[in-house]
Amino acid sequence: MTVTASEPAAPQGTGPSDRNRSDRSAFRRALDVVDDRLGVSALQYPVPEHANSLGWSLGGLTAATLFVLIATGIVLAQFYNPMPEAANASVRNIITAVWGGKFLRGVHYWAAQAMYVLAVLHLLRVYSTGSYKRPREANWLVGVSLLALTLGALFTGTVLKWDQEGFEALGHNLEIGRLLGGAGFWFSDKFSVGVPLLVRLYVAHVAIIPGLLLGLFALHGMLIKRHAISPKGSAADPGGVEGASEPRAPFTHHLRRIGAFALVVLAILGVLAVLLPPGVGPTPVEGVEVTRPLWMFWWVFTLENLFGLKAILIASVALFALLAAVPFVDRGPNRWWRRRPVAMIAATVVVITLVVLTLMTLVTPAASHL
Ligand code: HEM
Repeated sequence: MTVTASEPAAPQGTGPSDRNRSDRSAFRRALDVVDDRLGVSALQYPVPEHANSLGWSLGGLTAATLFVLIATGIVLAQFYNPMPEAANASVRNIITAVWGGKFLRGVHYWAAQAMYVLAVLHLLRVYSTGSYKRPREANWLVGVSLLALTLGALFTGTVLKWDQEGFEALGHNLEIGRLLGGAGFWFSDKFSVGVPLLVRLYVAHVAIIPGLLLGLFALHGMLIKRHAISPKGSAADPGGVEGASEPRAPFTHHLRRIGAFALVVLAILGVLAVLLPPGVGPTPVEGVEVTRPLWMFWWVFTLENLFGLKAILIASVALFALLAAVPFVDRGPNRWWRRRPVAMIAATVVVITLVVLTLMTLVTPAASHL
């Protein structure tokens, strides 16, 4: 807008732009006060531009879903009763009688699956960019542990609702504990007489696993900061110049990007929670095996149907041992996927096998194993 001679001039120092400026400087001053005490400006260290792409933000998004799970989980825990005789009814109560309970449970349920999907996509990004290579081998192992804990949280969460699916999941857990011999002592009823196993699995779900996840995530973050984010593409390989000409932006800019992506994920979770709220079956019946686990466990479910219960243990240990071995087997100097054909073919074979085993669950008749 142009100011004409006939318009009265605003008194000096009180026009909108002056006010904006003084608001901004008040905001700046407030930030400086906080920064003096907490040192938050240290977060403005430069990171390369490629860290802002979606592929490089998947780890941050995985962390965002973890925070959604913790926030919604804290509310759900106020209404859930882990005693076996009350657990199933308390979940029903959350859905039907607690204000917003059905929606919150839906967000928790979908966020758990989103965390798993995002962690796997993040793993595939780290693998395809060879970011597990020296000096990031230890951080890869921290990541493998984070993935195992994510699966542990999904598994224990399934048991908590204490319907047929949860009960059968626990039955498998007990059998695997038995197969582990002495090492499976925690899963036996005799470990803590008088405290139902469901209560101990609840403690694992709400305290032990989230605590370990947060602790390991802090370690993961410290190692990322120490090694800096890995370079992208052929710049990473011998002869390439490690990100020398790539523009850099403050890390706080990266956090803002992740925040924007996270809002999109949150919106999707909200829509899923409304359109596809998770159900809960009736209280369990002993001696039957009729349910399927959550889809991320289908690949071992197929193997169990084909080879028996032992296959769950052997296949899970084998997959995680394979993952843990990655940085120690593939020690070549190249990171760019085009220069790592063997590593890329091996990963493709593993992914296709897991997808085929997962889909086979839809056509393999369920057998009884317990
Ligand atoms: C499950 C929870 C996990 C969280 C919250 C998480 C979080 C993050 C974050 C925020 C980053 C920074 C770069 C990025 O976002 O791509 C990162 C990097 C990294 N993550 Fe994870 N991660 C998780 C799981 C994993 C898994 C399953 C692996 C591999 C087995 C892994 C291995 C790594 C490695 C090696 C880096 C360094 C990569 C680089 O410098 O490019 N992480 N992670």
